[in-house]
Amino acid sequence: MHILITGGAGFIGSWLVDSLLLQGHSVTVVDNLSPQIHGQVPRPEAAWLDGRDGVNFVRADIRDAVRMDEALANVEAVVHLAAETGTGQSMYQIAHYYEVNQQATAWLFEAIATRHRHIKKLVHASSRSIYGEGAYRLGDQLVVPAPRDPARLQAGQFEPLGSKGEALHLIATPEESPPFPASIYAATKLANEATARICAEAYGLQVAALRFQNVYGERQSLRNPYTGILSIFSNRMRQNLPINIFEDGLESRDFVHVSDVVRSIELALFREAPGYLVANIGAGVPTTVMQVASELKQLLGSTSELNISGDFRAGDIRHCYADLTRARELLGFEPKVSLREGLGRFVNWVLTQPVLADQSQKAQAELARLGLGRSAG
Ligand SMILES: NC(=O)c1ccc[n+]([C@@H]2O[C@H](COP(=O)([O-])OP(=O)(O)OC[C@H]3O[C@@H](n4cnc5c(N)ncnc54)[C@H](O)[C@@H]3O)[C@@H](O)[C@H]2O)c1
Repeated sequence: MHILITGGAGFIGSWLVDSLLLQGHSVTVVDNLSPQIHGQVPRPEAAWLDGRDGVNFVRADIRDAVRMDEALANVEAVVHLAAETGTGQSMYQIAHYYEVNQQATAWLFEAIATRHRHIKKLVHASSRSIYGEGAYRLGDQLVVPAPRDPARLQAGQFEPLGSKGEALHLIATPEESPPFPASIYAATKLANEATARICAEAYGLQVAALRFQNVYGERQSLRNPYTGILSIFSNRMRQNLPINIFEDGLESRDFVHVSDVVRSIELALFREAPGYLVANIGAGVPTTVMQVASELKQLLGSTSELNISGDFRAGDIRHCYADLTRARELLGFEPKVSLREGLGRFVNWVLTQPVLADQSQKAQAELARLGLGRSAG
């Protein structure tokens, strides 16, 4: 197959390209090598970016309709990964996030629906962020709490409560959980899902929207201070700088290794089932931020202090982990890499990378200045 991968020079995309090439597929990549991800002078990890190994690399913005049309002309399928990905950043670069994430995705679907009818398959990178808070149980009801009130966060009350202040019991979030985006980034991802579903149904396309949980692993940008908690922590830990653990450290995420995510994309791409599919992709296990920071610190042999700061950001959620029932049933997806193994692989790679000046405190201070969070720093 000849497959177009938007954002194919990025973290998930570059591994996907490698894997597809190994299986004998040919690949076109459209990526603008965004400086926030790749630095001002990109030093891409993947050898194929300089035109070797049969990859057609198009350095272009996905908002460039002409270059996108050229790229779409010869491919049979699309994996759409290019996006702006910073939750906090999206809260003030609102129009830009809509332009890159939503408008460009709309153009992509329009191009496929009207000018590139030969393309029948698309996999879209959605996100667990569309849920907002994960699912909880209250009695026998599934409950999705509203985004947390900043006044409660300011007062150090981090756990979401029921609408009448009841304590809630965290459960794995199923796809049926009603979406309640807490950030502009999440809102764009949710809008993309609606576009994808409507176009799949109207044009008889096979479209899968995969709601990735927190993806981590080798090649995740160590520069981007707006996303990738493990990358941000590891950069500071290598300099033995203190780590700012937000809230009380007990907030949790579902950390899924990039190799599992790449496999999920391939399972979605190569299945033969026309129509629209939305599925959670994660490890299916919650891990607290404190726990992941402690394990990372140990593996890196760092002396960084882990400081529980009470800081928070607008748009962040407390807990969410994936219910994988649907991914197992419809995609045959099973996560294979445990957190310990994945962190080991990540650390081995990190140690081969240059140590970079830390920008994460600046990013948090930006949010605090706009009243979108609290920063002690
Ligand atoms: N990494 C995660 O934890 C995670 C979780 C949920 C969803 N996702 C989604 O998966 C996708 C890939 O994420 P990733 O972690 O690989 O991110 P990444 O930032 O490493 O890769 C994104 C790539 O897109 C490119 N890009 C950005 N804007 C572009 C534009 N306007 N035109 C062309 N290229 C552009 C960047 O240069 C980069 O190479 C994104 O859509 C993201 O929202 C990721």
